[in-house]
Amino acid sequence: MKAAELRKKFIDFFVSKNHAEIKSAPLIPDNDPTVLFTMAGMHPLVPFLLGAPHPAGKRLVNFQKCIRTGDIEEVGDKVHLTLFEMLGNWSIGDYFKEHAIKYSFEFLTSKEWLGLDLNKLAFTVFAGNENAPFDEEAYNTWLSLGVSPNKIAKLEANWWGPAGTTGPCGPDTEMFYWTGSEPTPEIFDPENPLWVEIWNDVFMQYNKNEKGELEKLEHPNVDTGMGFERVVAVLNGFDSCYDTELFVPLFEALDKFRGIEKPSERTSEERIIIDHARAATFIMAEGITPGNKDQQYQLRRLIRRMLGEGHKLGLAQGFALPIAEKVIEMFQVYYPELAKNKEHILATFEMEEKDFSKTLVRGVQMFEKAIQEEKNVQNGVLSGLVVFDLAQTFGFPKEMAVMMAEEKGLKVNLKEFDEAFKHHQDISRGASAPCGLADKKEETTALHTATHLLHQALRTVLGTHVEQRGSHITAERLRFDFSHPEKVSVEDLKKVEALVNEVIQKDMPVICEEMTLDEALQKGAIGLFANKYGEKVTVYSMGDFSKEVCAGPHVTHTGILKSFHIMKEESSSKGVRRIKATVGFVKENA
Ligand code: ALA
Repeated sequence: MKAAELRKKFIDFFVSKNHAEIKSAPLIPDNDPTVLFTMAGMHPLVPFLLGAPHPAGKRLVNFQKCIRTGDIEEVGDKVHLTLFEMLGNWSIGDYFKEHAIKYSFEFLTSKEWLGLDLNKLAFTVFAGNENAPFDEEAYNTWLSLGVSPNKIAKLEANWWGPAGTTGPCGPDTEMFYWTGSEPTPEIFDPENPLWVEIWNDVFMQYNKNEKGELEKLEHPNVDTGMGFERVVAVLNGFDSCYDTELFVPLFEALDKFRGIEKPSERTSEERIIIDHARAATFIMAEGITPGNKDQQYQLRRLIRRMLGEGHKLGLAQGFALPIAEKVIEMFQVYYPELAKNKEHILATFEMEEKDFSKTLVRGVQMFEKAIQEEKNVQNGVLSGLVVFDLAQTFGFPKEMAVMMAEEKGLKVNLKEFDEAFKHHQDISRGASAPCGLADKKEETTALHTATHLLHQALRTVLGTHVEQRGSHITAERLRFDFSHPEKVSVEDLKKVEALVNEVIQKDMPVICEEMTLDEALQKGAIGLFANKYGEKVTVYSMGDFSKEVCAGPHVTHTGILKSFHIMKEESSSKGVRRIKATVGFVKENA
């Protein structure tokens, strides 16, 4: 089964069951400061899972690009990826367990769809614990479909979300496919790695509140996720995603650049290069540039690790470019932002590579200096903190430091490194942070509304070439990236600030309307459209000043913001400026 066919079948199946196809949301969550990246298809849908009506209806289906960098150190083996796609279907307070399971079963086994042999499938259901009971309904539904009890395992681990903070969660049921060459075992053993998980149906019955208690949700939801790359692999008899048509052309682009024949085995260096180049390309397609914080830091880390591996293989400069070009070529039909930002992506790879050469020279010097200091090396073991500092301050990759240490007969205290790294991740709201809602909800909502006002004010003052290139909100400030060729003058910044303050003073109501995207565009709405034409969208208007397509949430009237202050204007990347700003409401509540 071809990847494109699986993607299409999944969407077609659920559309035939009255689901509306929605577009993949951006990787960078617009208004959720609790996570750096979208990490599951459900993540952009959290407000709707918690009760807000979704403009496209109660049954949704999509493929969603996701990033999970929590396991970045594992990438290089045959199974780990940082960027992956998830196929998912949702019921937002519509059908529940029985229907969801029946849909999954039909899609997997019906000849019209995947036509998998039932004998090769097995299932897990939630066994129950002190918080929630055994999922008898899920269990019985599988039985009613003709599944043997031998093929259903009851596990306590079958629970999804929100892993730590607040948000929707519930028991899940997972579907497994037998990948062994020998006949399927009579009894399902979920520990046997030849059984590969291919799909997960989550039954979101609860919301975990701030006290850590499970509250029953107003309406229960279904959230399912199928790991696209993994399913393409198992359906085609591969034990690694990297062997599929989703990755092979990327390796070939690299082979061609190196002028080598296809090797019989891929190395972990090659896999890291391919995975990281792919993920970095997708992140940059959203206008992000490498930097020292948050998503920018994660992006730099991916690129630097990739360059470090390239260095180990002795690759010539520019090796990432043919890979990035191939990624863009292969995925642009599904993710048009890739082609749109091609120049930015290629130029950034080039620039980072140049910087990295300098970093290497400087890093090597600093490394040599550090190992001369007695306190840093004890009994042939180099302090992990030194390695962490080199990585943190100079962007000198850990792998390089370990390699150089080995050359000198030294070991690195990796436990110390990991602890320092984990601590850093925690304080920078790490990339593997769980899904959940903004903890400072009112502040972030006010800043989100301010973002719309700023966007329009910039267009009024500077011109309509100004378009949003990125937006990120924390509890303290908003950050808005927009297209504009030069530094914004102090005078213009003052005008923008004054204009936003004027709208705040007028205390305009914030109106939310539903319409199709075509209607929204006709009415002059602006915004980043992650939607399809014809699809219903929500449009937020503030008087006749601002009209923008957006999923919300927003304050009810502009006066709540109190006042607006621009803190900083700077360059973000070529042709993109960045403004950081805050509002009086936030300052008062700080
Ligand atoms: N949200 C669920 C998952 O990621 C479907 O597995």
